[in-house]
Amino acid sequence: TTEPLVLGIETSCDETGIGIVRGTRLLTNTVSSSMDAHVRFGGVVPEVASRAHLEAFVPAIRQACRTAGVTLAELDAVAVTSGPGLAGALMVGVAGAKGLAAALGKPLYAVNHLAAHVAVDIVDRGRLETPTIALLVSGGHTEILRVGDIVDDVELLGRTIDDAAGEAFDKVARLLGLPYPGGPQISAAARNGDRAAVRFPRGLSSKKDDARGHRYDFSFSGLKTAVARWVESAGARGDAIDAADVAAGFEEAVVDVLTAKAVRAATDTGIMRLLLGGGVAANVRLRELLAERCDAAGIDLRIPPIPLCTDNGAMVAALGAEVIRRGHPPTASDFGADSSLGV
Ligand code: KG4
Ligand code: ZN
Repeated sequence: TTEPLVLGIETSCDETGIGIVRGTRLLTNTVSSSMDAHVRFGGVVPEVASRAHLEAFVPAIRQACRTAGVTLAELDAVAVTSGPGLAGALMVGVAGAKGLAAALGKPLYAVNHLAAHVAVDIVDRGRLETPTIALLVSGGHTEILRVGDIVDDVELLGRTIDDAAGEAFDKVARLLGLPYPGGPQISAAARNGDRAAVRFPRGLSSKKDDARGHRYDFSFSGLKTAVARWVESAGARGDAIDAADVAAGFEEAVVDVLTAKAVRAATDTGIMRLLLGGGVAANVRLRELLAERCDAAGIDLRIPPIPLCTDNGAMVAALGAEVIRRGHPPTASDFGADSSLGV
């Protein structure tokens, strides 16, 4: 039997991602980003993202089919992210996917964006090793998941209660006068700084926070405020701000708390496997400290290639193919976009 040919559609944030898989094999991963349109606003603007998805949708599908060497008629199914994410952005993908599936007479599967970030490992390695803990860090979300089974058993252990990690990078970059997206900028500036020169707070990492149920949760808004205060008071004193030291201290605070909590989730659950996903996975210091701490704790660390870590359609197609492989029926056609969809 041939494996199902699945087209995956991802529009939960600012990337219009179209991926096509044949079972576990990736045929194409086409991404059209509206990042450039958000630069002058210093962050993703939902309205701008929705409009960009609408414009990119049909050309991206055409390009994906061309690259993969398949026709729409050959598809066995369509999969689409139904949440979580930006409501208007998700709606463009869901409406487009419904129209496409109906016009082609193909089954349609709604998939969860967070689970898809984990499922993408299938197209990289041909199988998914479970159970696993996943640390997902992007500009739109920040979570720790326990994945017993990618289709039937995904549990949210923790998440950010305010800003996403990538969003914190973007906001602090702005404070330091660096352009959007701030992650790569902060990271580059930090390379010339001293990580220990300024110690910024680690959100939600006290025993009291644990007792309040925040053991695996994150908070980055206090950290952002602390950086703003530091920059202000240095300015008031007439001191020159060493942006490299501030960037390095900020980056260390984010990376320290991300890695500490992910490693703790693995050791607490006894699941000594960790998968990193999301655009912040490109951060060199995060990769370095995570590798170091996983090594020390005996945790097997997986980081898919960066184009598969950032939001993309391949991850949606990969999860769709897995759902089909389990024999699940298509999603009831009245499903909608759900911006706060849980796992
Ligand atoms: O997953 P992603 O491509 O999409 C969205 O979340 O929209 O992640 C983008 C985020 C941005 O906030 C960006 O600043 C951050 O990931 N990012 C980084 C780095 N590269 C991208 N953050 C820290 N260090 C990096 N090297
Ligand atoms: Zn994402």
